[in-house]
Amino acid sequence: MTGRHLCHISDLTVADMDRTLDAAEHMVPIAQGQSTTDAAHGKILATLFFEPSTRTRLSFESAMHRLGGNVISVADSSSSSSQKGETLADTVRMVASYSDAIVIRHPREGAARLASRVSRVPIINGGDGAGQHPSQTLTDLFTIRKAKGNIKDNVVTIAGDLKYGRTVHSLALALAAYGTQMIFVAPESLQVPAETRASLLAHGARARYANKLEEVIAETDVLYMTRIQKERFPDLDEYRKVQGVFHVTNRLLADGKKGIIVMHPLPRVGEIDQSVDDTPAAKYFEQAANGVPVRMALLAETLGVRGVA
Ligand code: NCD
Repeated sequence: MTGRHLCHISDLTVADMDRTLDAAEHMVPIAQGQSTTDAAHGKILATLFFEPSTRTRLSFESAMHRLGGNVISVADSSSSSSQKGETLADTVRMVASYSDAIVIRHPREGAARLASRVSRVPIINGGDGAGQHPSQTLTDLFTIRKAKGNIKDNVVTIAGDLKYGRTVHSLALALAAYGTQMIFVAPESLQVPAETRASLLAHGARARYANKLEEVIAETDVLYMTRIQKERFPDLDEYRKVQGVFHVTNRLLADGKKGIIVMHPLPRVGEIDQSVDDTPAAKYFEQAANGVPVRMALLAETLGVRGVA
């Protein structure tokens, strides 16, 4: 993967994903500050964020620091020249000359791919509109593997905003590649978009569609909740119709399979009751923490940094 762009989860094979997850295991002690490395000394990562972010940007930056490298950052696009009308292509071309890799988040679908066409350094997509979020998917897969022992032999129920949720679009294709069984639960208006459904079908994915969590909870090993993506609705009245449609409680989970885990890419806005947080089922904060070792592994691969762990 050295020198390669990561714009879409399909840029990675199952072997690439497995290798990154294996490497991430070795990064955990460094990610947690128990040991240190300067393997990426002299390398510079640029984070270019045109949309709000807490976890993705900070975990990439923490990952780069833990690897012994440096970070330059545009965290608030209102302070960059895009405010003056600079095109994304011009910004990226220039930032590429200041860095060894760029993580980009942008409200427009396809922005990372566009950036990759003009960048002389690898582009990592940190989320492009309702498109893709591949580094989140690696974090999700790592979390599933850690909690469940493997990725394939689970029924993963993905619920919430399956239409606009970019974490869903990446995760679904990755799980299809692993042959994992999936159930997609959403109100009809927020179901998986036709394009992703077609890709799933083309991959021979084991996928089913439902409207209610109660219908599928008894067969679910991994419950992956997502936020309704308010900012992507063209019409706020449409958002209000689906707002608060899912609220996971311990009552619901009691009907779940033994050992069921609950995940969420976060931020949550009411999808999971706080009383779930203290149960062994809750894996969402661990999932967020896993973002650091996973992104360390991804950056090390992408930058060709050797001899880390
Ligand atoms: C997600 C995102 O930005 O797509 N957050 C994240 O990266 N962990 C999910 C969301 O915003 O709902």
